[in-house]
Formats: sequence, C-alpha cells, structure tokens
Amino acid sequence: MWSGLHRAPGDDDGPFSVPRSYPTELPGLFGRLAQVPCQAGAKQWYGRRKGTDDERRFARPGGAVSPTRQGPAHRARLAVAGLGRMGMVHATNVARRCPSAELVAVFDLRPDVAREAGERLGARVAPTYDDLLDSPEVDAVVVATPTGAHAEMAVRAAAAGKHVFCEKPLSLERVTTAQMVADIEAAGTNLQVGFHRRFDPPTAAVAARMRQGELGAPYLFRASQRDMSPPRPEFLAGSGGIFVDMGIHDLDLARWLLGEVVSVSARGTALSSPGFQEIGDYDTAVVTLGFANGALGIVDLSRVAGYGYDSSVEVVGRAGTARIDEPFAYGYELRTPGTAARPLVSSFDQRYSAAFVAEMEDFARSVTEVRPPLVGGRDALAAFDLAAAAAEAARSGTTVQPASSGTGTDDQPAGPAQAAGEHSGARTAAPNVKEVGTR
Ligand SMILES: NC(=O)c1ccc[n+]([C@@H]2O[C@H](COP(=O)([O-])OP(=O)(O)OC[C@H]3O[C@@H](n4cnc5c(N)ncnc54)[C@H](O)[C@@H]3O)[C@@H](O)[C@H]2O)c1
Repeated sequence: MWSGLHRAPGDDDGPFSVPRSYPTELPGLFGRLAQVPCQAGAKQWYGRRKGTDDERRFARPGGAVSPTRQGPAHRARLAVAGLGRMGMVHATNVARRCPSAELVAVFDLRPDVAREAGERLGARVAPTYDDLLDSPEVDAVVVATPTGAHAEMAVRAAAAGKHVFCEKPLSLERVTTAQMVADIEAAGTNLQVGFHRRFDPPTAAVAARMRQGELGAPYLFRASQRDMSPPRPEFLAGSGGIFVDMGIHDLDLARWLLGEVVSVSARGTALSSPGFQEIGDYDTAVVTLGFANGALGIVDLSRVAGYGYDSSVEVVGRAGTARIDEPFAYGYELRTPGTAARPLVSSFDQRYSAAFVAEMEDFARSVTEVRPPLVGGRDALAAFDLAAAAAEAARSGTTVQPASSGTGTDDQPAGPAQAAGEHSGARTAAPNVKEVGTR
C-alpha cells in the first residue's frame, strides 16, 4: 500500500514543461569549457584506435548500417519509441532544440499517446514498431520505453541497421545487458545510453578541468541525489530499485570522474511508505565506494526529499575541490523582512534540461559524423555492475566487488586523465557480484 506520496509540481506540468526556447549553444567561456570533454573525448578515442572512422565502422562484424546521410550539412533523422515522461523530453528536444537532429517518426504502444505527440511535434506516427524499423527515412531510434522492453527493441533496431539511443538502465539483468551490448556491437550500429549527467554543462566543465589536472589526485567523490517525491508506484515496481534505476547516474559519474571502482558497500531503508517494502525497495540509501586508485566515494539517494529535486556532486582532490550544486530554479531570490527565499527545481527534467538537449544533440552528431557515441554500452554495463553490487551489498550486509571492476575490462579504465565517454566496461559477461568482506 502506498501512502503519503505526491507527484512533484514539475511532473504535473508533464513532459512539455521544458522551456521551448532553451539555447542549444552555450554562451561564452562556460560554453567553451562545456564543449571540451566532448571534443577532446572524441579526438582521444580516435587517437587510441587504428584506422579511419569508416574503416572502424565497416570493419565491425555486422558490416554496413542504414545508408545514413552523413556530414555536417545533414541532420540525423531520429524516431522516438515510448512517449512517456522521458520519451517526450527526448522527442521534444529532437523536434525543437537539437540542431543536428530531426524528428521523423514516433511510436508508442498507446495509439492515443503517439497521435498526440505526433501532432504536437509534427512527426509521422508509426502504426507499429516494425513499421518504424522498416522506414528508410529513419537513421536512428531513441528507445524510451519501460526498462523491461529496452533490450528487445534496441537489438531489433540495430539489426534493422538503425543507430540506437537507449534510456538507462539498458536492462534489469546483467546477462541481458551484456548480450544486448554484444548484439549491437555485432550489428555495427551506435549504441548510446542515457547517462545525461555526463553532458550537464557544469559537470562537463568540471570533468574537463579535472583532466587538465586542476584538482590534482582525487581523494573523495561525493554525490547526493534526491527526488522531491517518488515516481508512480507502477514505475517503481518495474524500475529495478533505487540503486539500478536512480543511483546508476551517480555511479556512472563516479567511475567517469575517478576511475574504476573495486569495492561497494551499501545500506537502504524505507520509512516513508509501506509500498517500498512491499516491492523490496528502499526510499533512502547510502553507498560507499572504494576506487582502484585508493580514493573513496559516498553516494546518498532519496526518493522522498520533499523540498525539491536535489542533485549535487563534489570531488575533493589534492590541489582543489570541485562542487556541482545547482538546486535553484531561477536566477532570483525573494527577500522579505528577515528572510531570503529562492525557488528550487522540483524534478530531474527541470534540473537537467540542458543535459538532455546536449546528450541528444551529441547522439545525432555521432550519427552524422560517423563516430562512436561518447557514452556507450560498455559504460552502461559497468555502471549496471556498480548498481547491482550496491543492491547486493545492501541486501547481504557485505562489501561487494563489482563484476567489471578492472579485471573484465579490455580498454583503459575511465578517469580524469582520460577522454570523455570512453568505452571501458567488461566485454564479456562475468559473475554478477563477488563478496569481498563483511561490513
Ligand atoms: N535518464 C533519466 O534521467 C531517466 C529519467 C526517467 C526515466 N528514465 C528511463 O526512461 C525509461 C522510460 O521511463 P518513463 O518514466 O518515461 O516511463 P513512462 O511509463 O512514463 O513511459 C513509458 C512509455 O512507453 C510506452 N510503452 C510501453 N511499452 C512499450 C512498447 N513495448 N513499445 C512502445 N511503447 C511502449 C508507454 O505507453 C508509455 O507511454 C525507463 O527505462 C526509465 O528508467 C530515465
């Protein structure tokens, strides 16, 4: 039974609440800094591989992909499947805010939802998913359906020669996630995962400055993520739990910024509503991380913060500390006698609206520029392993070694000295988690 839960004000506005006039070009120095990790990442990624972009793409076992129109003069032709909370954010951004993309088709299991989105955004409504995959005018598919449907839809899209953007988590099981990543690699199309936090302008700027060595050796990663109020109970029931559904974003950032994680411990509790206990989930959780380089990490998560959506990250290093903390909705403060008040953001799509535009714009560019996406399937698998390790650690009360903590990787681990979005997860399925000690 669920009690005491309410929808956040931002949710009531629906997915159309993102401002229509969001600037896609970031201004000034801030914008230039924010661009650094993407550009540097792509260059360094190429630098470590042999052959030209086309040689690498067409050397993949799956061979050729859809005859995508390529080059800067073209926009990637995207279709969005699944038009709920996240799908409408993506569809709206593709249609209105991403200069390198156009929205050519939409699909949802609910025809009324698809029709409304198609009319609103000026896109063709595909009557079936097969119809969307058969369409020669579709270069890439954005899969934003509930998590349980991701694997089949994404793999079918790749098999049809379409590039794939898939929401996180790719799946709720490791074996399915690993198979999905392998199948799409074999098909030879791009797979980008929805880790939008890597594209958040302040986060990207901090990552760039870390790579320049401005923080020195990192000692501590700290992140908090708090929902104002929980998602719908039906969503929570199929979400995979607080670590896999929500914490996965912070865990991906942890390994992106500080490198591979070798040990995970966690605690969780559910005090706000019996509904969480009934589905075996938590509303509040804490994760501690041990990195391969000896640094430590701590992530706290809440589904029920009440005051607003709050997401902050801090990295403490030998030479400096970076703090990313932007909880305010607007750039003003209301001062009345003895009090100053600032409106807070209430939902993730409000806080990260720029990141959602930037990730989709970069996905579209990866298609037209014929290059790998900046965050791919192996990163998704590695982050899933961290989240699964946290879930296991909370359940068992033990410290757990994540499945892909270094030994299973075939690329260099991620880290501040490396390119943004390098692929660095495990290539093959490994045992899900290993216990390394009792907490
Ligand atoms: N990146 C993020 O921060 C973020 C935030 C929220 C959700 N998500 C992820 O996005 C995905 C979707 O979540 P949501 O909150 O938008 O869900 P939602 O329930 O709001 O929307 C899902 C939509 O998909 C449709 N659908 C269901 N099965 C389908 C199928 N087989 N084919 C086509 N359409 C289908 C539903 O009718 C619905 O319109 C989940 O994987 C979730 O984890 C990511």
